[in-house]
Amino acid sequence: MKKEIETKKIIFSGIQPSGNLNIGNYIGAISQWVNMQEKYDCIFSVVDYHAITVKQNPDELRRRAIEVTKIYLAAGIDPEKSIIFKQSDVAAHTELAWILNCYGARIADLNKMTQFKDKSGKNQESASVGLYAYPVLMAADILLYDAEIVPVGEDQKQHVELARDIAKRFNGEYGEIFVVPQVVIRKDGARIMSLLDASKKMSKSDSNQNNCITLLDDIEVARKKIMRAVTDSGIDIEYDLENKPALSNLLTIYAILGTREIPRLVKDYKGKGYGDFKKDLADVVVKFLTDFQTKYNKISDEDALIILELGKERAAKIANEKMEKVRKAIGVG
Ligand code: AMP
Ligand code: TRP
Repeated sequence: MKKEIETKKIIFSGIQPSGNLNIGNYIGAISQWVNMQEKYDCIFSVVDYHAITVKQNPDELRRRAIEVTKIYLAAGIDPEKSIIFKQSDVAAHTELAWILNCYGARIADLNKMTQFKDKSGKNQESASVGLYAYPVLMAADILLYDAEIVPVGEDQKQHVELARDIAKRFNGEYGEIFVVPQVVIRKDGARIMSLLDASKKMSKSDSNQNNCITLLDDIEVARKKIMRAVTDSGIDIEYDLENKPALSNLLTIYAILGTREIPRLVKDYKGKGYGDFKKDLADVVVKFLTDFQTKYNKISDEDALIILELGKERAAKIANEKMEKVRKAIGVG
């Protein structure tokens, strides 16, 4: 009888080492990854070439790459099950990005990217070409590994859709070289909003760090940030994205970092005020951070560097094989 060879689907995702990772990154991205490790072959990258789309201090960039690696580990990414590596350790990423810039990505596609418009603001003409072309590098990250599933927060959906278009266009021209990836986004928590303005996403690049709880925040600072978070008018604790966006955001954070689902929370806080609610939410956040930081503090920089070294070898092997096919297909190398 023919034996079925079981192949698991491949997952790829990454985070830029460009600022302090916050609970938005954790909820939207990392928490999904942890649960996927049992079922899939997972590859998680610290995407430092993405971080340089805006200027970085070299020492800081190197330090942050180690910090993000430790955050992956503390969150429960298991290097025995998943590949953890630094993007700049595998040269194939930038090589494939160049090829896709030529054969796959079009100016009309990139002109549609909302993140470029948001990040460059009024200074589009002086923004770097790297910031503009960054979704092509992201497509290269994904396509190098035949990733079928890309778990990200909502803000990255458009970029994964572009990676799909690029893969299809390239395959149409050169044969079935790439797997067409699919985006996966959480139902709740795909877009955690700022604590100070519920119309803006919680972001690690926001100049006001009171907008977010970072994973390595001092516990008492985090408590104060929750107590100072904006709420909506009215007195009832309700989940209503349209009329109570700030409160709905806090309920989402409460449910995901705590143990009670939103409908249960709404029931339990009937007749209670915002003050009680925020005090309890602060306790939940503090408990989450304390547990997380206890794990984080047990991981040394040396541990992280060893994991990255191992990840580099494993990732490079897969990426280099793909690059050989790509080079052959287009007639270079
Ligand atoms: P970045 O901070 O842009 O490197 O994002 C890293 C990952 O976190 C991506 O998958 C983002 O979609 C996700 N992410 C960033 N901010 C948020 C947020 N406020 N809510 C949910 N997911 C987020
Ligand atoms: N661009 C993503 C962000 O800023 C990070 C990223 C880079 C990524 N390459 C990726 C995410 C590949 C998923 C897959 O959040």
